[in-house]
Amino acid sequence: MHTILVTGGAGYIGSHTCVELLEAGYDVVVVDNLCNSSEESLKRVEKITGKQVKFYKADIADKTEMKKIFEENDIFGVIHFAGLKAVGESVQKPLEYYQNNISGTLNMCEVMREQGVKNIIFSSSATVYGDPEMVPITEACPKGQCTNPYGWTKSMLEQMLTDIQKADEEWNVILLRYFNPIGAHKSGLMGEDPNGIPNNLMPYVMKVAIGELPHVNVFGDDYPTPDGTGVRDYIHVVDLAVGHVKAIQKIEENPGVKVYNLGTGNGYSVLDIIKNVSKAVGKEIPYVIAERRAGDIAECYADAALAKEELGWEAENGIKEMCEDSWNWQKNNPKGYR
Ligand code: NAD
Ligand code: UD1
Repeated sequence: MHTILVTGGAGYIGSHTCVELLEAGYDVVVVDNLCNSSEESLKRVEKITGKQVKFYKADIADKTEMKKIFEENDIFGVIHFAGLKAVGESVQKPLEYYQNNISGTLNMCEVMREQGVKNIIFSSSATVYGDPEMVPITEACPKGQCTNPYGWTKSMLEQMLTDIQKADEEWNVILLRYFNPIGAHKSGLMGEDPNGIPNNLMPYVMKVAIGELPHVNVFGDDYPTPDGTGVRDYIHVVDLAVGHVKAIQKIEENPGVKVYNLGTGNGYSVLDIIKNVSKAVGKEIPYVIAERRAGDIAECYADAALAKEELGWEAENGIKEMCEDSWNWQKNNPKGYR
């Protein structure tokens, strides 16, 4: 079986993907500089799977280190998660975001080319659609204006990777546009562990559920949606992780450039999430209606048909499982990995 290099593999989505790769029989090498994660997540990966992960603590922009990783391992392809991802922070620190996400990826691609490893799966985001022209969003929907530097790094890297493949057909590039990943591994051993006060909805709701924060602020209840609150396509992180295994199987067919939405195709509102978490926790999650958040859109959910047709992949977990698994992780690990 092939060896896969997972960049950012100690992070939230990366660590769940390591589990699914190992369970599918792949060997896994991780490179992560631990700027937003801890090595403990990889220990949990090993505990769940009973298999080993070869870990390099390094920055993907460091060509000497990256060269060493490719020389020491027979890498078939790269699943590229490493990057900074906080939307608000990217507005404050555009230079750091462009430097880390774009230069880091380009340096790594140079090393990949030198080493003759030309298969890459890239973590993109539904944010590249901007305010989508239609919902559900198909891959044919044009990319739009991003509202922040983080989003632009995804949009630009998609273009750069596409151009690299166009110039050299030995490359295979799969761009995966994630919708809103939530949930955690069923074991309760792995989950999302954000630093500080969370910006995203589910980690914020979890902090309220364990009593660290008093209530959820619902950002607007006057959107043109069924209950007036924002609608998103939440996807269980384990389903998302399985999508990466399917993408590796696809890349084995030398497909050139491919783009897939990874979502469930269902839209749920902020109040739907609060209601389902309340059920999972067994007590009401308090919330207050607050102002709309700048840059937010009303509705965003995927048309997930293409991934089903071409990858044979479909999300299996619904909103109930997502909320139960997030809570199971949170209550078993109130301080995350610390
Ligand atoms: P995460 O922060 O948990 O994981 C990213 C990992 O990359 C971290 O472990 C971090 O330490 C590492 N990293 C960052 N810069 C690095 C560098 N220069 N060199 C080496 N390691 C580096 O985030 P996540 O939620 O697991 O997201 C993974 C990827 O998916 C990111 O690229 C993110 O932008 C993308 N994505 C995430 C979401 C989401 O909602 N979580 C949605 C769409 C896309
Ligand atoms: C955000 C990012 C997006 C990124 C995605 C995944 C913005 C504008 N967009 O998407 O680029 O790809 O995260 O990391 O930040 N909400 C509340 N109260 C809260 C938090 C959120 O009501 O405390 C609402 C939001 O208004 C939204 C929904 O919950 O309707 C989901 O928000 P969030 O989890 O931040 O994800 P997105 O905004 O979809």
